[in-house]
Amino acid sequence: MNKDQIASRMQHISPFYVMDLLAQAKQLEAQGHEVIHLEVGEPDFPTPDAIKTAAIQAIEQGKTKYTGATGLPELKDKIAGYYQQRLKACVDSKNIIITPGASGALQLALSVLVNSNQSVLMADPGYPCNRHFVRLLDACAHSIPVEANTRYQLTHRLIEQHWQENTAAVLIASPSNPTGTLIDQGEMTKIIEVVKKKKGILLVDEIYQGLVYDQQEFSAAALSSEAFVINSFSKFFSMTGWRLGWLVVPDAFIDTVDRLAQNLFLAPPTISQYAALSAFEESTLNVLDAQRDELNKRRKFLLNGLTELGFGISVKPGGAFYIYADVSKFTDDSFKFCNDLLHQSHVAITPGIDFGDHQANRYVRFAYTQNLEKLQLALDRISDFLTLYKHQP
Ligand SMILES: Cc1ncc(COP(=O)(O)O)c(C=O)c1O
Repeated sequence: MNKDQIASRMQHISPFYVMDLLAQAKQLEAQGHEVIHLEVGEPDFPTPDAIKTAAIQAIEQGKTKYTGATGLPELKDKIAGYYQQRLKACVDSKNIIITPGASGALQLALSVLVNSNQSVLMADPGYPCNRHFVRLLDACAHSIPVEANTRYQLTHRLIEQHWQENTAAVLIASPSNPTGTLIDQGEMTKIIEVVKKKKGILLVDEIYQGLVYDQQEFSAAALSSEAFVINSFSKFFSMTGWRLGWLVVPDAFIDTVDRLAQNLFLAPPTISQYAALSAFEESTLNVLDAQRDELNKRRKFLLNGLTELGFGISVKPGGAFYIYADVSKFTDDSFKFCNDLLHQSHVAITPGIDFGDHQANRYVRFAYTQNLEKLQLALDRISDFLTLYKHQP
């Protein structure tokens, strides 16, 4: 056996650089150091009790067989009700496909929509797996550099400007990872119009839906019945490890998506689906809303603290749990900066290089996934680190 036997497409699948940092952080912890983890994209909150109890009951009642390939009808109904009540969006249960996480939803949608000679427009910086999903289809991820002037988001103008003959689709995320920025309703409407005019497909990743601060949130599903909308139980619902998400699919594609879901996944995880049924109870939603309010406090706290320390944050994040900060005042190598910060001060953050190429050396991502006390400790450590760092060659 040798490495020549690995398919050539794997050359284009890069690892997460932050995994390297995580491994080093684990080593430091094994040596007895306390590392503050602001690198990982999952909050410290546990899954709410009602969801855990429902999972235990499902196991005890023997609900451990496959479900249908597109998921439990009663879970689809709950999700449809959630769209109606919380987001004023009319989504029919038949258009909802339950998937193994948003990851499964993205893979499913892109596989159904993109041919090998086609491309998908996406923002750089953006969620790194997207370009890999596209490359697995031997298609092309067409990354468009975005900056603070568009809140690090694609706009209808950028989409129009970069659209090519082989463009099949546009993939946007609001709120975004790594920037936490949103696309407002007016701009989303224009994006929907432009993609329609180009006869393309719009995919909107709403995995951070529910984690939107100080403003009214909306779903693209309320504005268009032709968009593919991706969501997940991972983030707002605090269920990262349960591997459950969903995809809202336009009428014309339901049968095809169902056919591929059967082949790719057989079914989404059964126990997780039964557990997720109780995620929509009012008492559970109250717990989740309180977690969102706590994240908002952390957002404000860390934004103030980092700004005072001299990090460049020209666009305030309005959602998710990330702050994308410019470190060019301190370094021209954000990866080295993250490494040094970890080793010298035991604070772990993610380098920009994990999210694309555009100005990747200039940015880092902070995830405010730890409590206020830990965030204060992290700020103190970063402050000490910067005092010395400025004097380093
Ligand atoms: C923007 C975005 N989309 C999709 C995912 C995948 O999430 P999951 O598969 O856990 O639902 C993530 C995970 O961090 C993400 O940030």
